[in-house]
Amino acid sequence: MADAENLDKTAAGPYFLPRVPRWRSMLRSFALAKDPLPVLEDTLARYGDTVELFIGGVEKSILTRDPGLTQHILQKNHRNYAKSKFTQGFSRYVGHGLLTNEGPDWLRQRRLIQPGFHRQRVAGLTELMQEIITETLAPLAAQAASGGGALAVPAHELMTRLTFRIIARSVFSTSFPEAELDRLAGLITEIQAFFVRSIRQPYLKPWFRLRGQFGYHDALAAELRTLLARFIAQRQQANQQPGATPPDDLLQMLLDARYEDTGQPMTPDRVLDEALILLIAGHETSANALTWLLYLLAHHPAEAARIQSEMAAVLQGRPPTLEDLPRLGHALHAVQEAMRRYPPAWMVDRVALADDTYQGLHIPKGTLFSLYFYGLHHHAGYWDQPQEFRPARFAPGAARPVQPFAYVPFGGGPRLCIGMQFALTEMQLVTLELLRQFNVEWVAGQPPVTMQPLITLRPRGDFQVRLRLV
Ligand code: HEM
Repeated sequence: MADAENLDKTAAGPYFLPRVPRWRSMLRSFALAKDPLPVLEDTLARYGDTVELFIGGVEKSILTRDPGLTQHILQKNHRNYAKSKFTQGFSRYVGHGLLTNEGPDWLRQRRLIQPGFHRQRVAGLTELMQEIITETLAPLAAQAASGGGALAVPAHELMTRLTFRIIARSVFSTSFPEAELDRLAGLITEIQAFFVRSIRQPYLKPWFRLRGQFGYHDALAAELRTLLARFIAQRQQANQQPGATPPDDLLQMLLDARYEDTGQPMTPDRVLDEALILLIAGHETSANALTWLLYLLAHHPAEAARIQSEMAAVLQGRPPTLEDLPRLGHALHAVQEAMRRYPPAWMVDRVALADDTYQGLHIPKGTLFSLYFYGLHHHAGYWDQPQEFRPARFAPGAARPVQPFAYVPFGGGPRLCIGMQFALTEMQLVTLELLRQFNVEWVAGQPPVTMQPLITLRPRGDFQVRLRLV
């Protein structure tokens, strides 16, 4: 527990807000930048579920793993909370798509784009997903067959390639050449990595400025926009050809969308912002979730076998289709449990726009919140044996129902992930097709896999799993 003198007992009402002294935050800022999860876990274990601290020793922030407070901020009083200047700072590089937008303009865009993500619309993209999964796994199966029935693959690299192709082709259909797709993925990764460093180590800003790092990353962002602008322009030209039938992809959905009030389409710049944000939000998140799932399945072969036997009974050897998914619950539960253990969005932030109170806790305007999803997903008060991988927690009728806002892999409230249905379908399909063809085994002798929480929670470095033909 915290030292008595470090606790702020002046907080009014029943909600008690301990405070980590600034000097302690300063001392730990380097450790926090290098490896935040152990520092945050330790802080919450010492002080309680909600605590005030200084990020990087500089920015005062409230860190919480309290489901009630999380629900208050994301849902019940969401109008009072905007994304913080950190997230908004990201728009310097990626523009003002749904993820970085705010206020009435965000709402207008969300209403416009939401129908494009309805279940039926996502259903229309599942054939494309299946096609890309099959295309990606076929050479691996061939290599395994010629290599004695198995091959080792770098899990994160494979899942990143697969999910980037799925999202890029769901947005742009087939119009993107492979080399440019790789460049696009590389640009997004480099920009995100720099953005995270600039936030986590704010004291390095003068150094970054001196080294021209901001300008360099602005130039990368400009290159990214130029690439996308060219593809959007090509699509618009192609659509104008006589007899053209535009593809049924997410870019076309953005181009066809009309504002309810004006009947007008989005400006080309807006289409670009929204297409880019879909690529960014829909890529790394699914890649990381699937990478962690591979890690977990390789260590829990009995869970993989449960998925395989359910699949064998339902599909009798054929590939899964969208209609089969509801009868293949084990795969979905494994995906859900992997996202509990390793939530891709491990933390999101908000700032109070006006004074507020929550159960007696006074929240002054400007208060910065770090909603710690990883902490919620591992809270012993809401989960039995939180460190264990138990997909059956998510089975209907499981002994302990999942408490609202103790499980928030896709966020909550009006800003709930717009791609949730897309991502769940994609991840269930990847899991099923992979396990239909292969057993997943751990490759012995690798260093322990640790977590690297950047914007999303990824493994530090990569690791290998062996895919053995079934
Ligand atoms: C495992 C996969 C995914 C996870 C864990 C995930 C998680 C999240 C979370 C937590 C948020 C809310 C952030 C906040 O409230 O600050 C969010 C928002 C968003 N996600 Fe996802 N996401 C995933 C996949 C996708 C996919 C595939 C797409 C696009 C096809 C997508 C597009 C978006 C967009 C556009 C937003 C912003 C929505 C808004 O604010 O209106 N996501 N996502």
